Amino acid sequence: MENLVGVFVLMVLILNGALFVHSGPAVPCTGQSSYPFCSTSLPFGDRVKDLIGRLTLQEKVQQLVNAAGAVPRLGIPAYNWWSEALHGVSNVGPGTRFGGNVPGATSFPQVILTAASFNESLWRAIGQVVSTEARAMYNVGLAGLTYWSPNVNIFRDPRWGRGQETPGEDPVLTGKYASNYVRGLQDTDGSDPNRLKVAACCKHYTAYDVDNWNGVQRYTFDAKVTQQDLEDTFNPPFKSCVLDGNVASVMCSYNKVNGVPTCADKDLLGGTVRGEWQLNGYIVSDCDSVDVLYNAQHYAPTPEDAVADVIKAGLDLDCGSFMGKHTEAAVNAGKVDESLIDQALVNTFTTLMRLGWFDGDPAKQPYGNLGPNDVCTEQHQELALDAARQGIVLLKNDGSLPLAANKISFLAVIGPNANVSKVMIGNYEGIPCKYTTPLQGLLKYTSLLYAQGCTNVACTGNDLFGGALQAASKADATVLIVGGDQSTEAESRDRTSLLLPGQQQQLVSQVANVSKGPVVLVIMSGGPFDISFAKDDDKIAGILWVGYPGQAGGAAIADVIFGQYNPGGRLPVTWYPQDFVKIPMTNMNMRPDPATGYPGRTYRFYTGKTVYMFGDGLSYTNYKHTLVHAPKLVSLPLDDKLSCAHKTSNFSCEAVRITHTNCQNMQMDVHVDVNNIGPRDGSHVIFLFSTPPSKHHAPKKQLLGFHKVHVTSGGRERVRFSVDVCKDLSIVDKAGNRNLPVGSHLLHIGDLQHSISLQITN
Ligand SMILES: *[C@@H]1O[C@H](CO)[C@@H](O)[C@H](O)[C@H]1NC(C)=O
Ligand SMILES: *[C@@H]1O[C@H](CO)[C@@H](O)[C@H](O)[C@H]1NC(C)=O
Ligand SMILES: *[C@@H]1O[C@H](CO)[C@@H](O)[C@H](O)[C@H]1NC(C)=O
Ligand SMILES: *[C@@H]1O[C@H](CO)[C@@H](O)[C@H](O)[C@H]1NC(C)=O
Repeated sequence: MENLVGVFVLMVLILNGALFVHSGPAVPCTGQSSYPFCSTSLPFGDRVKDLIGRLTLQEKVQQLVNAAGAVPRLGIPAYNWWSEALHGVSNVGPGTRFGGNVPGATSFPQVILTAASFNESLWRAIGQVVSTEARAMYNVGLAGLTYWSPNVNIFRDPRWGRGQETPGEDPVLTGKYASNYVRGLQDTDGSDPNRLKVAACCKHYTAYDVDNWNGVQRYTFDAKVTQQDLEDTFNPPFKSCVLDGNVASVMCSYNKVNGVPTCADKDLLGGTVRGEWQLNGYIVSDCDSVDVLYNAQHYAPTPEDAVADVIKAGLDLDCGSFMGKHTEAAVNAGKVDESLIDQALVNTFTTLMRLGWFDGDPAKQPYGNLGPNDVCTEQHQELALDAARQGIVLLKNDGSLPLAANKISFLAVIGPNANVSKVMIGNYEGIPCKYTTPLQGLLKYTSLLYAQGCTNVACTGNDLFGGALQAASKADATVLIVGGDQSTEAESRDRTSLLLPGQQQQLVSQVANVSKGPVVLVIMSGGPFDISFAKDDDKIAGILWVGYPGQAGGAAIADVIFGQYNPGGRLPVTWYPQDFVKIPMTNMNMRPDPATGYPGRTYRFYTGKTVYMFGDGLSYTNYKHTLVHAPKLVSLPLDDKLSCAHKTSNFSCEAVRITHTNCQNMQMDVHVDVNNIGPRDGSHVIFLFSTPPSKHHAPKKQLLGFHKVHVTSGGRERVRFSVDVCKDLSIVDKAGNRNLPVGSHLLHIGDLQHSISLQITN
């Protein structure tokens, strides 16, 4: 019946010639549906049970795949679960497209740059805008409600082509990004945890960060991961996403971890995500993961066994078609019980219920008033510009920056990325509202001479260098915009070198050599480069890293160069020297190994030389930190709640065992004053790091927290850190258990250091 009505509406639209008029999304429970699963007055549990009880096995199986089938006899239309919204509503997934009166959506910077802002409220604000635009597009039938974003894998190796999608190399940073972005996407205005604005998904669980390196493919890669690294590096972002973000979904990855495909790993899915973390939502496979584990990894003897393995492990939804083809046979062969299929459907249908998909006419529901006018609003586009400004990192400045527009009659603008548009929005992108290229941004401030120097980032020849050198030799200042793009770093494309591609380095050096005025080098990229040559070149006055800065990136770059905005972004990853590439990308170990010379990874463990460090970033002003308050001594009483983890030979206790049932709510306050002692207002990131006692191969330094504050010139702000003693000061031992070590924990805040003695009283 509902279907006939749908056909009728469509015909009217066509007869009226109303091309591009959307009749709204196809949803169940419209018209006179009186099924209990449509009744908004019943609890979700009852509605879901009623719905599943009406489905045949064949119908159930068609709900286990991303392109979930229609059940016409119950008025349920098809639904595609796969949409993406990494940094703006994207059309990469089949559930969402642009067209008609929504030709594009606000395109924020690629995540690695947004992370560099270290501003939690910005991350949440972006999530809120993206979900508003997604709801608006859903209402006109262009978008889904389930988004497989964000990507919260640790950016473990600088060569990884998908590092650009992540918030960087630190688990605390990544966890905070995840929970804020997810809350921005999901939380409804009333913050009712049973309701979702849209559903987010943290991916790719877990230890997934090799795409295609030296013949090693993500589809067959077996990541050998220690329990220690899993517990203190790879899993924390997912844990934070589930516990703090209350995310509605987790996606398992392509790779194996220690021999087992993640989507078939009962400990990782059923045990950790669903058991320990209590995911309130569904677990989905990466696209064709189930097919991959059968056909490429040969993990199971038959397709039915593969299906049984993943369902028993805790998988609820297959991105792909494999489970749609083989699950019925698996049930009929007795390899998997139908009750497990029902449990998977409970998880997916409950998510759709929380989204209101079974509540009837979308126009009458919360967010039902949103439409095309709520996409690409001026306010949303302003936030995209602000996000780019907040993320940009100033790495070098000899005092020439910011440039004074009134002292420049014309500017030389050079480089393969100097006038790019699509490059600025990275991957998992949508169609932006509009672009401001760097050239267009700079042109707002001054006249300019543009010379590409190289046709593209591959920069295979120097035939265009002449024009660039000529422009630089005449102009009052030179801006070089170089770096990478999706042809050098991307999904399925890891790098093999950390140097600027092709002859870009020669272009930069030669231009710098002949420039009449100061030279500003702008690196547009996701991953880091070894740019030691530029760091050490006195002719290069300033260096900026601008990530892939989104639709308004060019305006943000110009605002920073001309001092309209005072930069305050900080690097979310270590910039390693080129010789780092001699380390196999496939070595997953975070910790160094002195026996083999393996240097370890990320600022927490890496022992080698760096080009730039995690957290680096300059400003046009100067800040001074003063420690106002921090304890010198923290005593933990051993009692029925706290037990000793490691006893020494003289029976004194060396470390307290941390589980989630004890050692809670022990807070330690650290207060810091930040004085802006320079000439400009600015936003400043205060990092609180600690160096734990050096036991169990503990990190040499780890981030406990960060705050971003705006401080006016001459002004002062107080920053308050509340440190959870057990959670934040604990370290993970070899077996993967968290312990709180007795002894000196050294705090670092900028140049300040403060030692806290942790003791146990009996
Ligand atoms: C810069 O890029 C824009 C947008 O793609 C294009 O319209 C413009 O012609 C380009 N400018 C130059 C000087 O190439
Ligand atoms: C810099 O310029 C000088 C003279 O103009 C030239 O001799 C030298 O080779 C140049 N160096 C580089 C790195 O281009
Ligand atoms: C026990 O030994 C540790 C070193 O292992 C030492 O620091 C501590 O003072 C000793 N405690 C007592 C009570 O002797
Ligand atoms: C953080 O981002 C928000 C949202 O854009 C902005 O309003 C705020 O000023 C930023 N905070 C700082 C300290 O810059």
